Amino acid sequence: MNKPVIAANWKMNMTKKTAGILLRKINESVSITSEVIIIPPFTLLDMAYEILDNKIKLGAQNCYWKKSGAFTGEISPQMLVDIGCKYVIIGHSERRHIFGESDALLHKKLIAAIDAGLTPIYCVGETLEEKRKGKREFVLNRQLDTINGISSLIVAYEPVWAIGTGVAADIATIRETIELIKLKLKEKSVDATVLYGGSVKPDNSKEIAKQHIIDGVLVGGASLDAESFLKIIDSFKR
Ligand code: 13P
Repeated sequence: MNKPVIAANWKMNMTKKTAGILLRKINESVSITSEVIIIPPFTLLDMAYEILDNKIKLGAQNCYWKKSGAFTGEISPQMLVDIGCKYVIIGHSERRHIFGESDALLHKKLIAAIDAGLTPIYCVGETLEEKRKGKREFVLNRQLDTINGISSLIVAYEPVWAIGTGVAADIATIRETIELIKLKLKEKSVDATVLYGGSVKPDNSKEIAKQHIIDGVLVGGASLDAESFLKIIDSFKR
């Protein structure tokens, strides 16, 4: 993908009322030169699809790897396509660490998402402990090895210690890690757009956007506020 990608992961936030206000503000004000993706909770996907023009794309935060069947509480990739999604986040660190999703399960989800016609936004990143032990590269390699039998996707480098902490990784670390990820994926003949995520805000997004090796951002907290999110989108008019 040549355009920068700016994705908003709303996580488990927003009601119909608050989401309606936010979506309308974004839809009215945004001037698009990037691929802007809104990723609300499942309950708001339908409403987001109705409100957003098709210049803004829709994604989901998770999916199961089966098409249909007796899997109470799960949502299939085909259901996401049916409701208008183009993207799905797979392997967010909150899924890995809170819900115990393994690399083996994530591999199945990646394949299922691609088979359904979705573009996965596959999250990778080391924890603080892994960083302290100098294991960043080892962990990333293991997580990237999950990408098998896939020729194209979006990868988001989200160091776990930078998520929701207000402290983003420094530019040198982001550059170095994204270079590493791109090199590894090139070796595997995977065409990847690589984003950064973790405490992206209007006051650091300009500096991030200047780095052309960074293909875009995955934004959590700052995407819940229209003004902040629109400023981040503006930073990427590069
Ligand atoms: P924050 O931007 O709130 O740190 O969250 C990042 C993230 O997890 C996006 O997927």
